[in-house]
Amino acid sequence: MEQVLTVPTAGREPLLTQIDHVAVAVNDLDSAISFYGDTFGTAVAHRERMETDGVEEALIAVAGSYIQLLSPTRGDSPVAKFLERRGEGLHHVGYRVVNCAAALAAVKAGGARLIDEMPRSGSRGTTVAFVHPKGAFGTLIELVQEP
Ligand code: CO
Repeated sequence: MEQVLTVPTAGREPLLTQIDHVAVAVNDLDSAISFYGDTFGTAVAHRERMETDGVEEALIAVAGSYIQLLSPTRGDSPVAKFLERRGEGLHHVGYRVVNCAAALAAVKAGGARLIDEMPRSGSRGTTVAFVHPKGAFGTLIELVQEP
């Protein structure tokens, strides 16, 4: 049965168009890739090392979204510190937006605390910006604009 939802948007278009990815911090990327493959039959759609963030990621496609497995490439990266403090687990949620700069400005105007004051380059040629979990009910949020 198809259900149609009517979503109140307070007189404006919603900024978030889709869930881009759910990011999971792991100690060993290859072990995590094997786990997802063996358990769920998934394959890696994209793998990339981002030196500026000190992470390597593997993207597993699930319909129009991804599971993003993240592991640190150096001990002082934010993901390494997260693993030290919290252990493996859910790290952030990436929401797709049409225009990252416009979404970031709207989020800032709405009073949220930002990590990135300006959009920057993400993996796969995306443009991204992070919203701080403090003030966002404890979830690190990434705004993702497709290339
Ligand atoms: Co991400």
